Amino acid sequence: MRFVLAFALVGASLSVQPAAAADGRSLYMDNCAACHRPTGAGVPGAFPALVGSKLIQGDPKEPITRVLQGRGGMPSFHDELSDQQIAVILSYVRQSWGNKGKPVNPTQVSAQRGGKRQNTKAVLQAH
Ligand code: HEC
Repeated sequence: MRFVLAFALVGASLSVQPAAAADGRSLYMDNCAACHRPTGAGVPGAFPALVGSKLIQGDPKEPITRVLQGRGGMPSFHDELSDQQIAVILSYVRQSWGNKGKPVNPTQVSAQRGGKRQNTKAVLQAH
C-alpha cells in the first residue's frame, strides 16, 4: 500500500500517467472488488453492479460523491484514498467491462472534496 500511495503522490504531479490503467485495476481490486466483485457485477440484493450502471457512466459528480461520502452499506473513502487514486479507480470502472464513461481527473475529485488540496486554480480555469 505504501508503494501505491507513493506512486499516486508522484503521479499527481505529472500530467501523463502511462501506468494509470494497470494501477486502476489494482486499486479497484484492493478497495472495491470485495463488494462490487472483480467483474463489477456486484451481488444482487446486496451490492449494486457497476457494469452498465448509468450512475457510473454519467456525470462524474455522482460516482465521486459516492466514493467520497459513502452511502448505506458503502463505506466512505474520503480519508482512505487520494484525489489521484479515486480518479484512477473511477476512470478504470467507467471504462471497463463494456462501460463507456469518460475518464475522471483528480481536479474533479478535489473540487468535490471541498477544495482542501491545491488544485483550486485549475478548477477555476476549468469552469
Ligand atoms: C463494503 C462494501 C462496499 C465497498 C468496499 C465498496 N462499495 Fe460501492 N456500494 C456498496 C453498496 C452497499 C452500495 C449501494 C449503496 C446505496 O445506495 O444504498 C454501493 C454503491 C456504489 C455506487 C453507486 C452505484 C449505483 O449505480 O447506484 C458506486 C458508484 C460505487 N458503489 C462505487 C464504489 C467504488 C469505486 C468502490 C471502491 C473505491 C466501492 N464502491 C467500494 C458497497 C461497497
